[in-house]
Amino acid sequence: MTSMSEPNKGNLSLGEWSTVLAEVDGDGIAWVTLNRPEKRNAMNPKLNEEMIEVLDVIECDDSVKVLVLTGAGESFCAGMDLKEYFREIDAGGPIARIRSRRTSNEWQYRRLMFFAKPTIAMVNGWCFGGAFTPLVACDLAIAADDAIFGLSEVNWGIPPGSVVSRSLAEMIPARDAIYYIMTGKTFTGAQAAAMRLVNEAVPREELRERTAELAKHVAMMNRTVLEAAKTGFKRARSMQWETSEEYLYAKLDQSIANDPEHGREQGMSQFLDDKTFKPGLGAYKRD
Ligand code: COA
Repeated sequence: MTSMSEPNKGNLSLGEWSTVLAEVDGDGIAWVTLNRPEKRNAMNPKLNEEMIEVLDVIECDDSVKVLVLTGAGESFCAGMDLKEYFREIDAGGPIARIRSRRTSNEWQYRRLMFFAKPTIAMVNGWCFGGAFTPLVACDLAIAADDAIFGLSEVNWGIPPGSVVSRSLAEMIPARDAIYYIMTGKTFTGAQAAAMRLVNEAVPREELRERTAELAKHVAMMNRTVLEAAKTGFKRARSMQWETSEEYLYAKLDQSIANDPEHGREQGMSQFLDDKTFKPGLGAYKRD
């Protein structure tokens, strides 16, 4: 069976990595595929290192307008690699553990959460433990309705580590989070959508098409404005009201000053002077 997360033939490779596929298509969508299907795309130290490089390449590549993160085969990501990330790193001692954790967190939330371009998680299958961090760090998320999610840590003898619980607290109601954290029970993509962990769940055979449709929508928008809008939201939600007022105005002024296409002027002129569009119903016409 052909996996839906398999990249389109003809896509342009963004580089060569052993655990990640990264290709850009003609719409400027970078399809980033965690590529250890034989290990259900569990995140080992190599994958964590490579993902930092992949994110660097994509952030700096002007041909890429939006990033989609998915997994090869029938799994999105089976969490941290129990053998290579836990057992083998433990054997390396405390410094090895600190370095390995730092690398893992560097891409899974620090870079991904505030990535300079829009990001979409396409959850095509199993999604466990550590996989919740990059899932939540992505701006948007779409799941196959039969994808299986789980906070499986308690099942094998640990509480969720790193920022997994923090990620859940960011996205879903506490009752649901604590239930799944404490029971280790699984839930489906459809349930994830009901909890708002993902924006929507769609039948598996429609997942790639629906994700591409959403990616194309955001790819066509003003990227300076989108970066300011998402960063503004993500940073401001943990601020006091007064601080966030100052910060969001500063972000707005920064966006206007940095916007090479002067979207604000174009939008206002098309609405107020030309009367050629209605901002409530869609985006201004771009050159
Ligand atoms: N770490 C290391 N190896 C993993 C892994 C993980 N998180 N998840 C899967 N694998 C490996 C298995 O050990 C197996 O390796 P092998 O072929 O050398 O024996 C291979 O991937 C296939 O896994 P398998 O369990 O046979 O696949 P499955 O399709 O029947 O089940 C899962 C898929 C995801 C339900 C199951 O692999 C699983 O429970 N994984 C662990 C999930 C987890 O608890 N993650 C949290 C880590 S923080």
